[in-house]
Amino acid sequence: MKDSWKVNPIHIKLLEKLFSDVDIVSVANILDAGSGRTSLTFLTDFFPKSNITALVYPGDERKKSGIAESVTADNFVLKETDLHDFDTTRQFDVVLAHLLLGEATKFSKESFGKMLNALFSIDTSYLAVVDILEDPQVNYRALLRSIAQHRIQKIIYLDKYIGFLVKK
Ligand SMILES: C[S@@+](CC[C@H](N)C(=O)[O-])C[C@H]1O[C@@H](n2cnc3c(N)ncnc32)[C@H](O)[C@@H]1O
Repeated sequence: MKDSWKVNPIHIKLLEKLFSDVDIVSVANILDAGSGRTSLTFLTDFFPKSNITALVYPGDERKKSGIAESVTADNFVLKETDLHDFDTTRQFDVVLAHLLLGEATKFSKESFGKMLNALFSIDTSYLAVVDILEDPQVNYRALLRSIAQHRIQKIIYLDKYIGFLVKK
């Protein structure tokens, strides 16, 4: 049974602006790195013809049940895998890390820096990272160092959120 949850329009607005110049037709494979019903609702709506891997930390029932209750699309597969163990031979057109980094050390024993390495090691054309600018869990100095090794396509700041679109 579907619940009455509604996606926060600010999240959708920011994500639409971030991806507005990406050629939707060329995007076949997407990784929702640190998935949940907000990012997955956006991705399934914005890229309806793509195959999406929705990655959650193993046993994260909060996110699994939110997705099961609220995401009606069928172009995604849910995977419970620690990002640190993710198969880096897989190739994606888009990787989205929407509010992942704020939980980088919530479940895993690995450091924030190791999470960044894991995220930036994934083979993808575009990497989008969105977080709360004032989130003390997000090390923006380290994030910007990683981003600076690639090309920034876009930065969007909206409400309390900042999003980066990186071309790899
Ligand atoms: C705040 S939630 C993200 C919400 C989601 N992107 C959305 O917009 O609805 C953080 C997500 O990161 C995942 N996560 C945290 N640490 C992880 C790790 N080491 N490996 C894989 N996923 C992780 C959690 O399971 C959860 O799905």
